Amino acid sequence: MEDKTDFLIIGSGIAGLSLAVKLAPLGHVTVVTKKSRSDTATNLAQGGVACVFGPDDSFDLHRQDTLFAGDGLSHEDIVDMIVRQGPDRIRELIDLGVPFNRDPEDPERLDLGKEGEHSRRRIVHAEDFTGQAIQKVLGDKVSQLSSVEVLEDHIAVDLITESKIKGHLPDITARDRCLGAYILDVGTGVIHTFLAPITVLATGGAGKVYLYTSNPDVATGAGIAMAYRAGARVANLEFVQFHPTCLYHLEAKNFLISEALRGEGARLLDSEFRPFMEKYDPERKELAGRDIVARAIDTELKNSGKECVYLDISHRPADFIQRRFPNIYRTCLQYGIDITSEPIPVVPAAHYMCGGVVTNRYGETDLEGLFAVGETACTGLHGANRLASNSLLEGLVMAHQVSLRARETFPELRSRGSIHVPPWDIGGAVDMKEAILISHNWDVIRRLMWNYVGIVRSTKRLGLARERLLPILNEIQRHYWDYKLTRDFIELRNLAQVAELIVMAASQRKESRGGHFTLDYPYKDDWNWRRDTILQKSKTRCE
Ligand code: SIN
Repeated sequence: MEDKTDFLIIGSGIAGLSLAVKLAPLGHVTVVTKKSRSDTATNLAQGGVACVFGPDDSFDLHRQDTLFAGDGLSHEDIVDMIVRQGPDRIRELIDLGVPFNRDPEDPERLDLGKEGEHSRRRIVHAEDFTGQAIQKVLGDKVSQLSSVEVLEDHIAVDLITESKIKGHLPDITARDRCLGAYILDVGTGVIHTFLAPITVLATGGAGKVYLYTSNPDVATGAGIAMAYRAGARVANLEFVQFHPTCLYHLEAKNFLISEALRGEGARLLDSEFRPFMEKYDPERKELAGRDIVARAIDTELKNSGKECVYLDISHRPADFIQRRFPNIYRTCLQYGIDITSEPIPVVPAAHYMCGGVVTNRYGETDLEGLFAVGETACTGLHGANRLASNSLLEGLVMAHQVSLRARETFPELRSRGSIHVPPWDIGGAVDMKEAILISHNWDVIRRLMWNYVGIVRSTKRLGLARERLLPILNEIQRHYWDYKLTRDFIELRNLAQVAELIVMAASQRKESRGGHFTLDYPYKDDWNWRRDTILQKSKTRCE
């Protein structure tokens, strides 16, 4: 079945929905999303949006903090652009009705939280469920727009490119063009041919590649895998960010304990309830970069042989904790943990993909008509490690940038002559009767990635991971044509593809940097030296 739309957006988090709102006046927008429109990483985001609003803050300070976190790989022009646009994008959200907290002393001002590696208070938040508040307002707004259609339970299989349709390899001297995507309607099992002058990948990250993750089930790296298969460049995939503190409880799945708790003074304690961050970063302690804190916890767990460490905020007044962190307080209480009087058991978990599909400052990828935004993209903002709460900011700003470029290019792309795109051909594919063929491989990949390609890596472990992934990738490739596609199978295919890309990227990096740490190439220089070098370099470039 062939469906035509003007703008095809794959994914319904902050980047996808805010872009849909901006594109709505230009034409028909179709948003496809794997499950319900609010099954997104945005919806789980607790901390907030990093943005310069404080009287003691400046764009330059936010820029510097982002560059330090990025450990020398962030692109300064992109950092500068995103940081400077922050306040305007936040005001747009306020105008749409997002209930960001106000400063209790001065309601004219926003209340600003603090997180690791930020030199100032600058986290705009709605209690401790900022993402949920943004997701709801954007979801409501999109429902009111007659030109935006949201298709839930629709999962993208692959991008449609001009070279594939014409049956030849992409011409590396010319830009290939994206014509849309094949999309499976999970309810009916029909694969639709969606054609659009402009297609946008807003599929979020790939946390489900790992056994333990703060991400929702939908985070299987679809955008990265599809773009790679279509011939677009992907980069920085070795830089997976592990969040130091996810709730450790057998019944709790993916529940994050926000870094904002450490921003408000929470301490990390070992299994004997002794603080330990002083040993790893004497100056910044609990507010050191996420890579440092996650590695410190990993070392403590390996040395003690225990299952978890603890995060303790119980020294702060109970009414402050309940008011500032209502979501975390209530959720922990459900699991029998009263955070106002006892420490919280925590472990690190895969949290954010700093790399992704390479884009320019307008979200354009290597393929004409194909854009990528949010966690799916690699704009150059995060470099080797993302500064906390810069992700929602990037999603908002880059959606705005895509809307500017789409406005310019859409008329020309739409006027191009149409190419006949054949419908999806299921050939002799039959139903896959044994779900175990998928669930077993899914489980193997996630354990393998956690054990061999996790917080601490080595050349040996990376080599073994690749060796073990290859037969799984081959098996998936064989099954791809033998069996009818299902959501689980499409997700497994993407997950395996992204796992392989992460391993390849990590194997190529012969150094430790940001979120990539390998025992064979430890950091050459201490953190203060690296920070001074980054600052010096950025000053020289500005002069
Ligand atoms: C958190 O609340 O700790 C997560 C914020 C982020 O990942 O930026």
